[in-house]
Amino acid sequence: MPERRILVTSALPYANGHIHLGHLVEYLMTDIWARFQRLAGHRTVYVCADDTHGTAIMIRAQQEGRSEEEVIAEMSAAHQRDFADFQIAFDHYGSTHSESNRRLAHEIWAAHRASGLVFEQSVEQLFDPERGVFLADRFVRGTCPHCGAEGQAGDNCSSCGRTYAPTDLKDPISTLSGATPVVRSAQHLFVDLERQRPFLADWVADGERLQPEIANYLRGYFLEKPAQSGEGLEPLRPWDVSRPAPYFGFEIPDSPGNYFYVWFDAPIGYIAATADWCAKAGETFADWWRTDSVEIHHFIGKDITYFHTLFWPAMLKTAGFTLPRRVQIHGFLTVNGEKMSKRTGTFVLARTYLDHLDPAYLRYYYASKLGPRVEDLDLNLDEFADRVNSHLVGKVVNLASRSARFLEGATLGMAYPDDEGLFAAAAEKGAEIARAYESCDLARAMREVMALADRANEYVDRKQPWQLKKQPGRDAELMDVCTVALNLFRQLVVYLAPVLPKLAADAAALLGEPITDWAQASQPLLGTPVGKFHHLMQRVDPKQVAAMISASTVDSDAATTPEVSKATDDGPETLAAEPLAPECTIDDFTKVDLRIARVVAAEDVKEAQKLLKLTVSLGGETRRTLFAGIKAAYRPEDLVGRLVVVVANLAPRKMKFGTSEGMICAAGPGGTELFVLSPDPGAKPGQRIH
Ligand code: 2FM
Ligand code: ZN
Repeated sequence: MPERRILVTSALPYANGHIHLGHLVEYLMTDIWARFQRLAGHRTVYVCADDTHGTAIMIRAQQEGRSEEEVIAEMSAAHQRDFADFQIAFDHYGSTHSESNRRLAHEIWAAHRASGLVFEQSVEQLFDPERGVFLADRFVRGTCPHCGAEGQAGDNCSSCGRTYAPTDLKDPISTLSGATPVVRSAQHLFVDLERQRPFLADWVADGERLQPEIANYLRGYFLEKPAQSGEGLEPLRPWDVSRPAPYFGFEIPDSPGNYFYVWFDAPIGYIAATADWCAKAGETFADWWRTDSVEIHHFIGKDITYFHTLFWPAMLKTAGFTLPRRVQIHGFLTVNGEKMSKRTGTFVLARTYLDHLDPAYLRYYYASKLGPRVEDLDLNLDEFADRVNSHLVGKVVNLASRSARFLEGATLGMAYPDDEGLFAAAAEKGAEIARAYESCDLARAMREVMALADRANEYVDRKQPWQLKKQPGRDAELMDVCTVALNLFRQLVVYLAPVLPKLAADAAALLGEPITDWAQASQPLLGTPVGKFHHLMQRVDPKQVAAMISASTVDSDAATTPEVSKATDDGPETLAAEPLAPECTIDDFTKVDLRIARVVAAEDVKEAQKLLKLTVSLGGETRRTLFAGIKAAYRPEDLVGRLVVVVANLAPRKMKFGTSEGMICAAGPGGTELFVLSPDPGAKPGQRIH
């Protein structure tokens, strides 16, 4: 079989924020996949880089009174520390603000010009005259042009749900300076994507490049409409690839004063990082990006699908670079069934996790949940602790701890004993486990390995080496049982090595041979010295999980929005505005039955200015319908799945739009200043609040 050469990438993280547990789904998945390929003997190179350009970095640098280069250098160092401590092994980690990326962006741009795909068009945008910057939609607030709700974002209204252009907002304000923005027009450069449609339709349809659900979606919506649908095919919208100054990025060489939009040069960072790695490793660049004999595998999140499945292949094709063999797309992370949130402490930074917990736990937990489909992954903190403790500590590590100490200072047997066919059966499973890794079905790979661990532990349970040790004259039997147990342990560790590289290194130190090859799982290890047994992994302590959540409530706010930390200087005005109610007794309080509930559905009541209709579950089949005046503060989709607190014994109230069967608890004066109460992680629907 010819050697497989594989180039692997993860999406380049933005340089304006720290790595968090949501990012890590992707980096761990990619690292595990790349490590598996290396272990399987394929030439595998994993590159990544910081994504450094754009308005957000420019504004952050201005706010912090530093240059953009200083901000990105500091963030790059922090990102690389976090990745290294999670044992993510890049062959090269670069930056999109590099000379190699500038050179490649120029080259790819020249190819677009030469192919006649670029045209100019005037674009109207809001401009902040005080800060001297064009405002992206998220930096504008104003009054909705449709319903008059105040304080709405630049692109859609949270009150009436309608969308609009930021230039249509009434009384707009720049959130950067508070100034009134002015409308300015500027010439932008566009790439004509419609001309690439035939190529893209073929690319998307081409076999194994995309997960079926993604390929079908793209085909159906963008590239082909079935003739019988009678609908015409909308032309693919041209892609606006330039931004006028001021902008932090690369100036477009033949359009002074205009810069490449961050999404134009960001993916080129994949190529630039490879070029930098080639220079470092003495490799030929053309062997990695100008040949069909390399497999390029991009791992990305579902939110950046279009960039990688439409714009990016079109760019590569235009400039004659190798097209990706596969774009592997994953879903988002939820924690305890909800969107990560700083308020509940579930927005956990990588560093905060590392301050409290072993990275191996998360590597294994994510692997045990990641399938090949584009599905969201829920980090359930109770399940996380249970799974790590029962699988890794209880099944895998336990196998070694129950046998290694009896052979400490001795060697594994010279001949492999009769083990009732266990080693051979597990070796045979190797091909199936390898297929699961290859297809990114890490969850299936982990299930197979844990089933083997169960068989191995049953063997030790039957043989009871600790009893053999007590019985004189049974030393040879004890040695055989421990030789089998340690070989079965090592076999599991080989299968788990892509997920748990530290455990693989520790097992290698214990058993006297490094783990470097998948084939080691089919060959028993014999005659090597058995080292001193050290605990290979501690159990997860739920107190550490709680400490991490508690630290995240503070850490993440401080780390990403420094000015918000001033809000912890709680002033007296809030209480003064609404003084305490007259004293009540505990009996008064217990008349109110407050319960934990989960929002299972939420919808906008179109006819009402303030109301959302919520369906909450109190556990089992018990549901309640509530009308809550929180429309200005919450989008319905952000509430679904959340745990909330409801007054469950409030008399039903007939309203114009239906009957409200309770009340959701929230604090704040009203409008956008409303804050729905959430319990700490672990609470369950139906629990009473005392
Ligand atoms: O969505 C993001 O986080 C982007 N920084 C990903 C860029 S991926 C690539 F195209 F560079
Ligand atoms: Zn509106």
